[in-house]
Amino acid sequence: MKIKELSIDRYEEVLELFKRTPGVSVRDADSMDAASRYLARNPGLSFIAEYEGVIMGCAMCGHDGRRGYLQHVVVDPPFRGRGIAHALVTRCLDRLEEVGIVKTHIDVFVTNDLANEYWTKNGWMKRDDIYRYSFLRSSNPNA
Ligand SMILES: CC(C)(COP(=O)(O)OP(=O)(O)OC[C@H]1O[C@@H](n2cnc3c(N)ncnc32)[C@H](O)[C@@H]1OP(=O)(O)O)[C@@H](O)C(=O)NCCC(=O)NCCS
Repeated sequence: MKIKELSIDRYEEVLELFKRTPGVSVRDADSMDAASRYLARNPGLSFIAEYEGVIMGCAMCGHDGRRGYLQHVVVDPPFRGRGIAHALVTRCLDRLEEVGIVKTHIDVFVTNDLANEYWTKNGWMKRDDIYRYSFLRSSNPNA
């Protein structure tokens, strides 16, 4: 298994993985154009786990200069429980630390029990002191 930087030419495959994974919401913000912009703004921070050309998992990561943000940490079901998510997330956090960022957030749907258990088990602090507010400047609810 190799951990490699996610490049835009592998994004189509990654998007297919997101689409078939319950608990992962795929929106217009996950389009090829948006991903291209995201990767260009956050170079060297998103990774795939690959074995013999097959993408087994992915973690996308960025920062705003102050805090890190993880999104779409996904491992294909047949490859779960082998430390792949741990390896991907560690790589993201290592890279963030290299640029001076030591605190990272991830949004998880309240209903995504599997993911909520995962982050709690792995030492991520569930925040009860923050609400996330979102403002949509589009008539498209899937923006
Ligand atoms: C959550 C997910 C990424 C975990 O991937 P994974 O590769 O199976 O996780 P790992 O094998 O790296 O697990 C690392 C550790 O977490 C534990 N773990 C794995 N899945 C867990 C779960 N659902 N609940 C609690 N602990 C879990 C493992 O036992 C391991 O612990 P250990 O080091 O003590 O053995 C994967 O289940 C997934 O893709 N889920 C669906 C997508 C999703 O909801 N992603 C999150 C969106 S925010």
